[in-house]
Amino acid sequence: MLTFDQVHFYYKKGEPVIDNMSFTIKEGEFVAVVGANGCGKSTIAKLMDGLLLPKEGHVKYREFDTSEPADVARIREQIGFVFQNPDNQFITTTVLDEVIFGLENIRVPREKMRIRAEQALQAVRMKDYAEAAPHQLSGGQKQKVAIAAILAMRPRIIIFDEATSMLDPQGRKEMLFIMHELHRQGMTIIHITHHMEEVLSVERVLLIHQGRLEFDGDPLPFFEAVPAAGYLLDQPFAVRLHKTLGLRAPLMADWKEMFRSQWSMS
Ligand SMILES: Nc1ncnc2c1ncn2[C@@H]1O[C@H](COP(=O)(O)OP(=O)(O)O)[C@@H](O)[C@H]1O
Ligand SMILES: [Mg+2]
Repeated sequence: MLTFDQVHFYYKKGEPVIDNMSFTIKEGEFVAVVGANGCGKSTIAKLMDGLLLPKEGHVKYREFDTSEPADVARIREQIGFVFQNPDNQFITTTVLDEVIFGLENIRVPREKMRIRAEQALQAVRMKDYAEAAPHQLSGGQKQKVAIAAILAMRPRIIIFDEATSMLDPQGRKEMLFIMHELHRQGMTIIHITHHMEEVLSVERVLLIHQGRLEFDGDPLPFFEAVPAAGYLLDQPFAVRLHKTLGLRAPLMADWKEMFRSQWSMS
């Protein structure tokens, strides 16, 4: 369980960025976080793993509190991050070393590192690229390696902070497929995104607006009830079509099923 309990945060005093925010994300949930540029999504992500600390209130993962210095390391072991720009995440010269590098920081025995790294690359279907140079990969492949580097550390939660936003449609599709696969295996997925098409397939949407939680719930009522234009969001094509044609709600449920099944294993 990841909990925000009446969290307040600002970078500059008097200019609140997160304003009394409370919510709980349960183990194994697949949550999308959406909202206009600058509404505080990345700030929320950083508060989740103690990169930033609340000015008031508490952020907790299980029994650990980010405000307790002794707990922060425990929290970071369990929460992995994939960022927007795949090029900023690489330090070493081969894909395999890149995945092993993260393990050196968490005291995994040497003889176990390689096998763990290979398993992680296998999970994102990048094992064939183990000896490739990271800079030669496509954007989508780089993001998959970034995921492998995190998987090797065996976290419970992965936060994707607009990790699909610089990818082409094919790269985005593969990333979303991997997210759904990890979710099926029991991982908690927090997907911060601007792509509303991707939101249709998740379990729960958090809409952030002016530092507050404006909507928290299922994607269906979200797209039906929330005036996207007011929050600078695009409606997914399926939703626009549905609204234009004035279709009844049950058809929307069919759309949702269609989007969900698109990401499920055949
Ligand atoms: N390091 C920082 N110092 C000062 N202000 C910041 C910093 N990072 C973000 N902000 C401001 O905080 C607000 C929320 O930013 P952010 O969480 O990055 O939004 P989002 O990820 O939703 O685009 C924005 O107004 C942004 O300009
Ligand atoms: Mg951001």
